Amino acid sequence: MVNSDYQQVLNEITAEVQPLLSQGKVADYIPALAEVKANQFSMAIHTTDGETFCAGDCSERFTIQSVSKVMTLTLALQRYGDELWQRVGKEPSGTAFNSLTQLEFEKGLPRNPFINAGAIVTCDALYNRLSAPMHSMLETFRLLSGNPAIVIDKKVANSEYDFRHRNAAMAHLMKSFDNFDNEVDDVLWAYFNFCAIELNCVELAKAYNFLANKGVDNTTGKVVLTNRQSKQLNSLLFTSGLYDAAGDFGYRVGMPGKSGVSGTILAVLPNKFTVAVWSPGLNSFGNSVAGIAALELLSEKLDISIF
Ligand code: DON
Repeated sequence: MVNSDYQQVLNEITAEVQPLLSQGKVADYIPALAEVKANQFSMAIHTTDGETFCAGDCSERFTIQSVSKVMTLTLALQRYGDELWQRVGKEPSGTAFNSLTQLEFEKGLPRNPFINAGAIVTCDALYNRLSAPMHSMLETFRLLSGNPAIVIDKKVANSEYDFRHRNAAMAHLMKSFDNFDNEVDDVLWAYFNFCAIELNCVELAKAYNFLANKGVDNTTGKVVLTNRQSKQLNSLLFTSGLYDAAGDFGYRVGMPGKSGVSGTILAVLPNKFTVAVWSPGLNSFGNSVAGIAALELLSEKLDISIF
């Protein structure tokens, strides 16, 4: 497959997933997210040699939600290295992204950095080492996406904060087990602002291209992670990026991926490209119905997989 065929394949996929756009249900546990129209779709590929391809509603921006957890982990690994794993595990959870029960059984140590508890404790760790975490995160996305005008959707951030009780319960539970250093509400405010960063699919695929490129951002040449860390992060995405649906996603798509409740999914084909897809209708696991189908089609049409 040569790069010039990517556009053709994205166009075909966009046409083929149209019947699925009405099937999922937009996340409504955050009121501001419930206002998004379900019937939207876009998909973008950014190759390691710097080419970009997109089909569908390419300029539409959406909040990246849990896909921000990948950058939270990236910034934390830059600052802590393997020391971070004293605060959070590396195992798949097999439970929903916002489950509280496992955290109680396992004494405040979240299974992995991609479930909510794991991302929140990683934010707490970042909070210890960054004087302005929200500014650092936004600047990282601005630099790596190539768009200095990227912003945080404050309406979504505020809405998440107003309805933060479940996430706050996780943070307090971790504090009770001595695995939380800062004020719960301060850390949650940063976490929700990370989730409410707004990107389109092209910007999202570009921002994470270092994961396909041995840890190096291919536009700026910046070493975001070491090659080893990039490989490790991709491995964790494969086992835990889609929560209790990680097995099904791995089976169908064959690539590491991370989903968010806005209906976006990022996937990585190491040494080739990152791909971002967005369609707001979700299945019962909180993952985009058309997004998963589109990535499965991509994997079949291009005959790609990490295996
Ligand atoms: O913590 C929350 O509820 C959201 N801001 C992020 C959740 C999310 O995207 C989970 N992903 N599927």
